[in-house]
Amino acid sequence: MTQNLLVVNGPNLNLLGKREPAIYGSQTLNDINRDLATVASQLGVRCEFYQSNHEGDLVDRIQQAMDSTDFIIINAGAYTHTSVAIRDALAGVNIPFIEVHISNVHQREAFRHHSYLSDKAVAVICGMGAFGYTAAMHYAVKHYLK
Ligand code: DQA
Repeated sequence: MTQNLLVVNGPNLNLLGKREPAIYGSQTLNDINRDLATVASQLGVRCEFYQSNHEGDLVDRIQQAMDSTDFIIINAGAYTHTSVAIRDALAGVNIPFIEVHISNVHQREAFRHHSYLSDKAVAVICGMGAFGYTAAMHYAVKHYLK
């Protein structure tokens, strides 16, 4: 049976390409997702993409993933550092996930050093730029989906 991956991006990640390019690079979210879709098809998994700037919508999408999604790759953006609700949603659906950050959050402001998600995550990737999503996908497929 083909397995399903879900890639979730949180607030302001729709601005990738325009937003602080020295930190986040020049690729847009569409560029990144297009590349990920290619990798997913090469690896033989189905992949869906979701982005929202709204905490409750992110919670709703994670809940919807229950029963249909085998693995989640999530960059929750700033909600990483604030959201008990997103943490509870990920724990509630009991779907393994990797937390991704484009930037190295540990080189940045102290408020970015804490994540509400990390201790529930299979792995945490930060500072690899957009390649972090690709790395997460390869890991997920190799260790969880095949
Ligand atoms: C981010 C890091 C967060 O601290 C920030 O709020 C973001 C993006 C990253 O991908 O590096 O929006 O998650």
